[in-house]
Amino acid sequence: MYQFIAGLPKVELHLHIEGSLEPELMFALALHNNIAIPFTNPDEVRAAYDFSNLQSFLDIYYQGAQVLVKQSDFYDLTWAYMLRCKADNVLHTELFFDPQTHTDRGISFDTVMKGITQALAQAEVELGISSQLILCFLRHLDEASAFETLQQATPWKESIVAVGLDSSEVGHPPEKFARVFAAAREQGYLTVAHAGEEGPSSNIIDALDVLKVSRIDHGVRCVDDPQLVARLIEQKVHLTICPLSNTKLKVFESMKRHTIVDLLRQGVSVGINADDPAYFGGYMNDNFNAVASAHQLSFEEIAKFTHNAIDASFCSIERKLELRQHLQVYVDSQ
Ligand code: HPA
Ligand code: ZN
Repeated sequence: MYQFIAGLPKVELHLHIEGSLEPELMFALALHNNIAIPFTNPDEVRAAYDFSNLQSFLDIYYQGAQVLVKQSDFYDLTWAYMLRCKADNVLHTELFFDPQTHTDRGISFDTVMKGITQALAQAEVELGISSQLILCFLRHLDEASAFETLQQATPWKESIVAVGLDSSEVGHPPEKFARVFAAAREQGYLTVAHAGEEGPSSNIIDALDVLKVSRIDHGVRCVDDPQLVARLIEQKVHLTICPLSNTKLKVFESMKRHTIVDLLRQGVSVGINADDPAYFGGYMNDNFNAVASAHQLSFEEIAKFTHNAIDASFCSIERKLELRQHLQVYVDSQ
């Protein structure tokens, strides 16, 4: 099974680039940029990653991101992630970035974008990995700040496929960003949103109806509303599920209790993703392996996660055909 997973072509649709900052790189950048961090070595950093809920993670995650200052830091961060994609046979990835985490510290939007896009372009040429970028608004900040961020993105519009919504879900429902998302859609961006991670299933409905999202990030709380599950199946709404994230942040008490396999078998389009791999203990293969060791799955079911992700991705029709072909060749060879 693990061998099948290792060789399986994969598509990642839920990955925060700031969440791929490994403690070793965090240390190197802290030293280089003269940023104080409250740890003496990378092992101490890892030991501190013991979370009780989403907020306890976010506090450490935003602190870690402060070591990212220069364009080359964003390049190094993104390149390291793309090498992990190569190792895990991820052929296409759609990455989130949180501009406000950086612009609020005086780092320019351009600095962030130049570093990230340089690594993505190099990965396409040298590693054969295609990618798309999704700009996420931090939902704990206000609407005005989100509008300002949307404005800053204008010169980079060709490099950003969609806008999304992340950070603290409880207390910051989708409606708070209805007008920003409407403006973004008018400018031609697709939309996605984190919903139904810690917040109620009604946030999933509002993300669909108010923010008009193409897919839902996490969405695992949909199981509280059978009518909503029926709608997700009927309308083929994809959920970008992040198994290790969900257990590390206590959304589920164990991987055995995770509902991803139930949802798959009911016919919901679900995929497996890493979310913040440096913080949650693993990249794509680790997430697939964690699900496969807690649940009995056939090869066909495991391949279905990739199949669903290809269908839900924002890449071109031509690239989708290529990805489907890679998957088919692999499954046929088993
Ligand atoms: N949820 C909300 N915000 C986030 C997450 C997440 O899983 N990861 C990074 N920012
Ligand atoms: Zn996320």
